[in-house]
Amino acid sequence: MTNTLKALEKDPNKDSETDAETPPPASPLLRFYRSSLGKKLITGATGLALAGFVLAHMVGNLLLFAGRDAYNAYAWAIENFGIVFYAFELALLAVVLLHAAVGVEIFWRKRQARPVGYSTYQSAGGPSYQTLSSRTMIVTGSVLAAFLVFHLRTFKFGTYYTTQLGGETVRDLAGLVIEDFHQLPYVVGYSIVLLLLGSHLRHGLWSALQSIGLLHRGIRPLAYGASGAIAGGIAIGFLLLPWAIYLGWVG
Ligand code: HEM
Repeated sequence: MTNTLKALEKDPNKDSETDAETPPPASPLLRFYRSSLGKKLITGATGLALAGFVLAHMVGNLLLFAGRDAYNAYAWAIENFGIVFYAFELALLAVVLLHAAVGVEIFWRKRQARPVGYSTYQSAGGPSYQTLSSRTMIVTGSVLAAFLVFHLRTFKFGTYYTTQLGGETVRDLAGLVIEDFHQLPYVVGYSIVLLLLGSHLRHGLWSALQSIGLLHRGIRPLAYGASGAIAGGIAIGFLLLPWAIYLGWVG
């Protein structure tokens, strides 16, 4: 047995020196993942997918303004997609993890390349799009990751109230959301996180559009403004509900 292992370790047909020095060639997919361009494209594409989800989620939440039944019926209908719904959730989780992992890697690479942060940011010609949002992506992203764990515990895996809807017993998610947003700490906490989400989205959208090469120089200022407007719109859209509930306008 020991002899066989030794024989496997030392293959007489191979040049052992070259073997030790040259690792096996990486697959094209792995090379793409490891390259700076690949990482930018992965964060850009996953970021755009997540922005799409966040936008849809924000619009879905606004249904509570139409009444508890409308909100509960919507949540119930989505859950009734069964296997498709679970597949979507799994894909969403994978996209979140990939986005976070590559984002952290990009941050570390930049830090290693420039360990001491610049105190002033200067543009190398043309308008600079360096902003507070762009310099704090790792901070806002980390807060959002922590928020997601708390958020899922609060709502998705929160108290399972039930209610009657069209003769059927369904989950009363509206009741849970209304109960939680009657508490000021929830409203203030969510407000802070949603402002950070707006900041993250503002730079994220802009950066993603640039990475996937959609931005011709001429339309850059327009795209920059649009990214800010969409990010602000999403944050405000989310903020409406907690405050409307807290102030007693919805309930
Ligand atoms: C006022 C703001 C928000 C409210 C009222 C809200 C409400 C909810 C509720 C009630 C659920 C449970 C849905 C269900 O179990 O069927 C949920 C799930 C979820 N929320 Fe939010 N949400 C808000 C903001 C956000 C934000 C800012 C994000 C992302 C950054 C987010 C990401 C998610 C995710 C990933 C899920 C799980 C979706 C799934 O499993 O299908 N939510 N949210």
